[in-house]
Amino acid sequence: MTTTPSNTMIGAHVLRCVHCGRVQDRIDRLFRCSECNELLEVIYPDWAAAIADCGQRLKKIWQERRLSTAPEDVSGVWRYRELLPRVGVHNIVTMSEGNTPVMLLKKAARALRLPHLLVKHQGLNPTGSFKDTGISAAISMAKAEGFSCVACASTGNTSASVAAYAAHAEMKSIVFLPAGQVSSGKLAQALEYGATVLQLLTDFDGCLRLLHEVVQRFPAYLLNSVNPYRLEGQKTVAIELMEQLNWNVPDHVIVPGGNLANSSALGKGFLELLELGLISSVPKVSIIQAAGANPLVRTMRENNGRELVRVNAETRATAIRIGNPASWRKAVAVLKNTGGTCEEVSEEEISLAKAELGAEGIGCEPASATTLAGLKKLVQSGFVRTSDSVVLILTGHMLKDIDYMLQAQENQFFGPLEANAGAVVRTLEKIYAGN
Ligand code: F0G
Repeated sequence: MTTTPSNTMIGAHVLRCVHCGRVQDRIDRLFRCSECNELLEVIYPDWAAAIADCGQRLKKIWQERRLSTAPEDVSGVWRYRELLPRVGVHNIVTMSEGNTPVMLLKKAARALRLPHLLVKHQGLNPTGSFKDTGISAAISMAKAEGFSCVACASTGNTSASVAAYAAHAEMKSIVFLPAGQVSSGKLAQALEYGATVLQLLTDFDGCLRLLHEVVQRFPAYLLNSVNPYRLEGQKTVAIELMEQLNWNVPDHVIVPGGNLANSSALGKGFLELLELGLISSVPKVSIIQAAGANPLVRTMRENNGRELVRVNAETRATAIRIGNPASWRKAVAVLKNTGGTCEEVSEEEISLAKAELGAEGIGCEPASATTLAGLKKLVQSGFVRTSDSVVLILTGHMLKDIDYMLQAQENQFFGPLEANAGAVVRTLEKIYAGN
């Protein structure tokens, strides 16, 4: 069974430049504005007319689809297809992405005296990161356009997702990785899913620059987040979250920032829900970066978002080791339009926050833990008040970066011990003495 509303479709989309506002009549392979070379965004020109007073109906349609077994309804992206570019159901490439849980953080909430502290765990997507929602959307566009080969540059998670979705769609995939700077778990995923993996002697920013040149000379569809369709998939996390919260808008949503597409997508999702009248306010979307990879923080601090301040990125949270973020303009707009802020956190603060999340039974990768580390600072500065409700977006699965965890938890296990009950009980009594 599939639930398809007859007259609740939003209609055609166009691509518009985020800088000069020009609507594109021809799309180049790099998804850049033909006038000023800046990034593009998807807009739906007849949106207002098409949806006038049908918001409540959309909520009902989306809810009904949860009872359907059709792949496009089971998907936590395509379930919301009225708010996505049309691709035709036969072009949809899905592996039931989205559908990620919202969970309470108890210990952290007590420590920070916050009454409502939640995480939404995007690391529980099919390949273990939030990327799957965006890749599902963009690779479906690639299929609709007749491509048989897709490509990306990545700090690891995008490559895993691209490789998996390409394999699932019976397409070829090419991934550019910065040699020696990607966790072994993510590299292994890309290999297992059958991608052509090129490890390059440069950083992520260098990989992306090179890929831009290559896709102009080689017939591969660009799946990095400069591709605006990626953001359309990733914005659905905002819709799914609002459904899960029964459409009660939280005061804050906090997300890590690397290439700055995910924060942009999240903000776009909330702002569109507002425009459609499905929510009556938006949460403040705040972005946290590692202090060693903080171009957005510096950009806001030094020139209030007018010109990007590039940095040489260095952090053990390798997913966000990015100094020249492509989507910085979009992220600045999200900060301004939602009233959010950006903050940086040290390596120690990331490591501590990650361990604290783990101690609540909620594992994530280092980049995701920036959210809790950042929240602590935002509470301290008073930006987040103790009456506020907060949702942290955890972006990657804990098993993505095992080396990081084993190093951090090095001294936390006991042994080797004699394998007999006496020795074990004596050790346990010592450990639990006084507890
Ligand atoms: N968290 C994780 C786990 C990531 O993998 C990334 C980005 C981010 C946060 C930041 O998201 O770039 O949209 O601001 N990873 C990319 C990759 C760059 O190639 O996997 P962003």
